[in-house]
Amino acid sequence: MAADVPEHAAGMRDYWDARARENAVWYVDTSTAYDHPDMGRFLSDGRQIVATALGEPQAQPAGHELAVEIGSGLGRICLALRKHFHHVIGVDISSEMVERARRLVDDEHIDFVVGDGTTLSPLEDGCADFVISFTVLQHLPRRDLIGLYLGEAARVLRPGGVLAVQWNSDAHPVRYRIRTFQRRVLARLGLAHRDDRRLAPQFVGTPAPVSYVRGELEASGLRVVSVRGEGTLFTWIWARRP
Ligand SMILES: C[S@@+](CC[C@H](N)C(=O)[O-])C[C@H]1O[C@@H](n2cnc3c(N)ncnc32)[C@H](O)[C@@H]1O
Repeated sequence: MAADVPEHAAGMRDYWDARARENAVWYVDTSTAYDHPDMGRFLSDGRQIVATALGEPQAQPAGHELAVEIGSGLGRICLALRKHFHHVIGVDISSEMVERARRLVDDEHIDFVVGDGTTLSPLEDGCADFVISFTVLQHLPRRDLIGLYLGEAARVLRPGGVLAVQWNSDAHPVRYRIRTFQRRVLARLGLAHRDDRRLAPQFVGTPAPVSYVRGELEASGLRVVSVRGEGTLFTWIWARRP
């Protein structure tokens, strides 16, 4: 059964359930072809993302028992994580995504769980060796929701465990605003896909500066060991639980 979404996170589940029904692969990765995506490339990108997340020399997890992904989509990252960890759990707000992930990724050591959109419940404190999130925090419509997940990631990490997350720290996303404006104008003129769902707050999300993310992680007892891509949409941070 799907966990209830708290009121302050309402709207996200409906949005992502609808996107999964419309075209799950494309909304997981909008650089794929909308009609005939190359699934080989889609899956190999999952392996590349994991190679990046686990490739930071200062941030090697001490154990390899359990990895957790926040916002697991169709499970391509969980599948790639399984090469490095005995058990993998993907948590996603959308039951439609979770259902599709279970069909695409068939491995008895990988579980997909429908979460409440703000926590990693029902995972216990200190159970995980590694937590990853990619192209999820960038879509959260409020900064405090990003903070909640960072605190949750810290909560489930055991000593020696590592967090690797990507988010948007582009404080002045001029490109993004111009593109959104263009899409709105084209839609009004009837020249674009009228229902361009990427204009929704659940997709546009909100940026957060590195100082905010670093502060949330440190307040949760993690030690930040590396940051890359500061000021861009693809900012990564690595942190360890001492
Ligand atoms: C762009 S997809 C990325 C999926 C996966 N990380 C990947 O790269 O293959 C974003 C995913 O995050 C999920 N998501 C969005 N908001 C969420 C939230 N508040 N909590 C958990 N998952 C969320 C969506 O349902 C979707 O599956």
